[in-house]
Amino acid sequence: MTKNNPFFNKSFISIDQISSKADVDFIFKVADKMKYVVEKNKHFEPLKGKTVAVLFYQPSTRTFTSFVGAAKRLGAYVIDIHEMDSFSSAVKGETLEDTIKSIHQTTGANAIVLRHPEDNSGELAESASYVPVINGGSGKKEHPTQALLDLYTIYEKFKRLDNLHIMMVGDLLYGRTIKSLAKLLVKIGKNIHITFVSPKELKAPKELVKTLREKAEVSQKSVFGQSINDVDVIYMTRVQKEWFEKEGKVDEYERLKLKFIMDLELVRKMNKDAIIMHPLPRVGEILQEVDDNPRAFYFRQMRSGLYIRMALLHSILLP
Ligand code: CP
Repeated sequence: MTKNNPFFNKSFISIDQISSKADVDFIFKVADKMKYVVEKNKHFEPLKGKTVAVLFYQPSTRTFTSFVGAAKRLGAYVIDIHEMDSFSSAVKGETLEDTIKSIHQTTGANAIVLRHPEDNSGELAESASYVPVINGGSGKKEHPTQALLDLYTIYEKFKRLDNLHIMMVGDLLYGRTIKSLAKLLVKIGKNIHITFVSPKELKAPKELVKTLREKAEVSQKSVFGQSINDVDVIYMTRVQKEWFEKEGKVDEYERLKLKFIMDLELVRKMNKDAIIMHPLPRVGEILQEVDDNPRAFYFRQMRSGLYIRMALLHSILLP
């Protein structure tokens, strides 16, 4: 479809694999074509004859359905299993590497999309796999396809990736989306300012902040709602109950879960051209009263996921 495809026949497990603006331009251009195909209801099945396995070990609404939808829309045969953690032989002690090898043999999959709770699951799966692996979210560390769809949403709105101030709010410790997006933004954009806003217990990891500061201005706050009038994007996130449960810190979750809430009063303090994003699910940190405000981008943001995931599957499976 497009020349010099940097994604062809490669796994996509980390946002660090995006090495240049040219990679982003490439995938955005393919995503634009996918958007056209979807919006115009075009018959377009270039992946007919290919098989995509979508294996999720953690709950998902958006990533799962958009990968399945993307593969099916492109004509691929799809094996989609949502509860790998309950129904695969992982329950009997099978390693992730053995599962990945097995799924290729049993299904003939040409690509595997994986969501898994371990931080290094993408790397493990890639090392074992005979075919490209796409990371649909790994532990607390990476959500690279979310970062691309977030950046695509930002680009569609502002028509630029430079000179942006983004405020990332909420659980910056356990949340994986902000980590991938922040790294991508500072790699691709010039003059980027990131303001992290979180309770002190949920601050972004120090190493991440240090890395980002090599290329961008990074501020950290523990109060939400001040100085939001000069921000282009407020990226809200939920406090991630599942990790607190795993670490036996449910009381701390209850104390922190709704520290920062976006309501209409705050929205009205934002620049009129600014937008509110959220990877979703939300669990109270954006009130429903905000949904009809023109700054609310979190539902249209997920449509970018369909286009970006179609673009990735197309680019990985076809030259
Ligand atoms: N944004 C996101 O990853 O949502 P899901 O968990 O529903 O896939």
